[in-house]
Amino acid sequence: MNAKILNEIDWRIRVFESLSFPTLILSPDKAILTANRIFLDKYDTTLERIIGKTCSKVFYEGKGCKDEYCPFVNVLARKTGESVLRRRLTRTGKLLWEERLFSPILDDEGNVICVMESVRDVTQLKTLQITLKETEAFLEKIILNSPVAIVAADHYSNILLMNPAAEDLFGYRNNEAVRTLTLEQLHHPETANNIMHMLRTDDEDGIGKLHGMHTAIVNAKGETIPAEVNASIIYEDGEEIAIVCLYTDLSEKIKIQEKLDETRVQLAQSEKMASIGQLAAGVAHEINNPLTGILFISSLKMESLAPDDPEREDLQAMIEDVNRCKNIVKSLLEYSRRKVPAKEVIDINTIIERGLTLIRDPKMFGKIEVVRALSKAPMIIHVDENQISQVIINLVINAIAAMEGKGRLALCSYPDPDLNKVCLEITDTGSGIKEDILNKIFDPFFTTKAQGKGTGLGLSTAYGLVKENNGDIRVKKTDADGTTFLIEFQSYTPPGEVNDGEP
Ligand SMILES: Nc1ncnc2c1ncn2[C@@H]1O[C@H](COP(=O)(O)OP(=O)(O)OP(=O)(O)O)[C@@H](O)[C@H]1O
Ligand SMILES: [Mg+2]
Repeated sequence: MNAKILNEIDWRIRVFESLSFPTLILSPDKAILTANRIFLDKYDTTLERIIGKTCSKVFYEGKGCKDEYCPFVNVLARKTGESVLRRRLTRTGKLLWEERLFSPILDDEGNVICVMESVRDVTQLKTLQITLKETEAFLEKIILNSPVAIVAADHYSNILLMNPAAEDLFGYRNNEAVRTLTLEQLHHPETANNIMHMLRTDDEDGIGKLHGMHTAIVNAKGETIPAEVNASIIYEDGEEIAIVCLYTDLSEKIKIQEKLDETRVQLAQSEKMASIGQLAAGVAHEINNPLTGILFISSLKMESLAPDDPEREDLQAMIEDVNRCKNIVKSLLEYSRRKVPAKEVIDINTIIERGLTLIRDPKMFGKIEVVRALSKAPMIIHVDENQISQVIINLVINAIAAMEGKGRLALCSYPDPDLNKVCLEITDTGSGIKEDILNKIFDPFFTTKAQGKGTGLGLSTAYGLVKENNGDIRVKKTDADGTTFLIEFQSYTPPGEVNDGEP
């Protein structure tokens, strides 16, 4: 009967032979009735060898073809075509991917008389798909594990992706950012516009590219964080389809740079102070002896003069000037650390309180409000009380001078447990110190006051005294709103006691 069917539809055999895919005709009980030429060539076989066998036998020698994969039963039942993707190992060990398409052939009554099975080699396509999938997975891993924050957005700037580094930097989860946030919301408005503008400008980076732009981002808490951004526009057929931005957090780098700059300035300052100090010490030493001589002789002369002698007045003026010079010399010696400090263990708050009582004249303060914000915790240091009180007085006098009769003077002390230090800030609401003189204010004899009003020794003396007591002094902040001087000393730890970092 099988041969009869085939003879009756002779022209169909020609169609069958000209199909470009290897094709079999199977009986409803799965036996091969025939195969086209291309099948025999491809599978290097003959009709005699395969007729009557199942396709499973031919393709897999009976192994590896299970009913659950085979759509044959469905094709018979549903009378519609169905396909399945199968892997096959050739005799030479090559792995092939084949798509097998089963199509029912119906008689006039609509009964399935046989099934046509075409085999399409999709190895190349499948290999490409696998490679693509692997590449995609690999790229995804790179994006997920990148230490650089990556943000992708569509051309309307809606966020499409935030990798974990970007989640950390911006403080949003990927799933809450995607499609709900825009690139603009991750920056200050003008910054986002700037990035977009630079990206679309044909500058040295080229159109659609932006390299190493220093900018700032705004995180979920609304904090501004300095960052470097590299970005590019992704085009498809010349159309913008997405924007990818890579951000690097610069806050740590900037902090380190600032610390480095500060250390450099402090180093330059202390080098300068050391050489000026040497000079000052030499001069002070040389001048001190002759001054003592002049003072001694003029005092003797004064004693020898009658009370109504007209020369007394000149001599008195001379003695006062010599005393002024001796005071300057004293300050110079303090600045150049030629006086051995008498150190004791004392709370810095005690020094502040006592120091302030030394500036007794209430007229000096005018309408200046004095605020003390002293730490409640003990702030024990090992210093010469007189010297440090002198420092505080000098700074307070300067602050008062800068405020010209009205303003607010704040003395604030606090511990720095991280560095095991004790800090004192003296803040005024005065004129501030101009940038161009900031590096000169600690120099001896540097003053901006009118002649005869200041010697310019207040801060240089303070500097010398603080250094002598192993402390640090610097301008923490100065602008048109006023100035803050910061003094730091090491916290005192009794001998034998281990410092645990607590104040
Ligand atoms: N709190 C301050 N606000 C503004 N400028 C200040 C302040 N402290 C110091 N200065 C500036 O630093 C300069 C040097 O201060 P320093 O105390 O060494 O000398 P002086 O106050 O001018 O004179 P002296 O202290 O010898 O009377 C001042 O002339 C002033 O220009
Ligand atoms: Mg002064």
